[in-house]
Amino acid sequence: MPIINYNGIHVECKKNENLRKVLIKNQLTPYNGFSEFVNCRGLGTCGTCAVHIIGEVSSKTKIEIVRLNFPPHKENQNLRLACQCKVLGDLTIKKYLGFWGQKIF
Ligand code: FES
Repeated sequence: MPIINYNGIHVECKKNENLRKVLIKNQLTPYNGFSEFVNCRGLGTCGTCAVHIIGEVSSKTKIEIVRLNFPPHKENQNLRLACQCKVLGDLTIKKYLGFWGQKIF
């Protein structure tokens, strides 16, 4: 069973589980601030669930590629949309600042 490290908190999930759902199920969130209430609920269109992932997840979906190339996100920021990722192995997740988690420093 994959282990997810999110800001030092470790949770377990099944392989192929949706990352957004795993985080929410464990009272964690891929969202910052008000975006927890104003988001697309996992459709891949709002971009607010963007996180940096170290570890193995599924390939980017078409909608994810489009959304991560649309402002405020930018190409090649090495972010993923948690709602579009299936967990394939142990992960370390980092959420950056900003409504979309787009403020990479
Ligand atoms: S929840 Fe909207 S893109 Fe992931």
